[in-house]
Amino acid sequence: MNHEKVEKNISVMAILIVVVISIGGLVEIVPLMASSAATEPLEGIRPYPALQLAGRDVYVREGCYVCHSQQIRPFRSETERYGPYSVAGEFVYDRPFQFGSKRTGPDLARVGKRYSDEWHRIHFMNPRDVVPESNMPGYPWLADNEVDGELVANKMRALQMLGDPYSDEEIEAAAADVAGRTELDAIIAYLQNLGTARSAR
Ligand code: HEC
Repeated sequence: MNHEKVEKNISVMAILIVVVISIGGLVEIVPLMASSAATEPLEGIRPYPALQLAGRDVYVREGCYVCHSQQIRPFRSETERYGPYSVAGEFVYDRPFQFGSKRTGPDLARVGKRYSDEWHRIHFMNPRDVVPESNMPGYPWLADNEVDGELVANKMRALQMLGDPYSDEEIEAAAADVAGRTELDAIIAYLQNLGTARSAR
């Protein structure tokens, strides 16, 4: 009888559906918040050094995540191609994470050290110079843009407030660390570090 009333009253039905879905969501999400595997950094994972942090922001700005994922799923077809599957502890300093949801190009979660800096430099200027069949766009302007040291330091300060363990010395040295470096240097530094902490194990 009661069931019939719910089925015939769309507002009650809608409220009850929200209640049920909320409980389902909480049961999945709350234990994850308390799990150290999801909240503590994996050994060897540190907040991004100044140049890599700047490179990561270029990655976000240029929308690389539209074509590239950064998450290797635990399937044989993926681990054989890309390396060990991704674990939550690798992403604790990624704000926001760059998992992505589409692979027009390959996954980049473990691209670090796969190619030389020089390969990346040529690839970013014009991908077809190294991969003739590539449909990735070139990003030649990255070589002309200098990294803004003051901005990087401010970003590190903001991340420190959010709990990333940057030391005050690191933040003070940030502007000098990136002085004279281009956005191309920065994004290559970022890519060369991707996944290296875990693939080394
Ligand atoms: C329109 C889709 C598209 C966009 C946008 C794009 N890429 Fe690509 N990318 C590809 C494709 C396709 C390949 C494979 C062919 C090649 O190597 O060029 C690739 C390859 C790569 C590789 C080599 C990966 C490997 O394992 O061989 C890297 C590194 C890379 N892209 C980085 C980037 C970065 C960083 C950006 C943002 C600045 C970016 N891509 C934007 C499509 C894209």
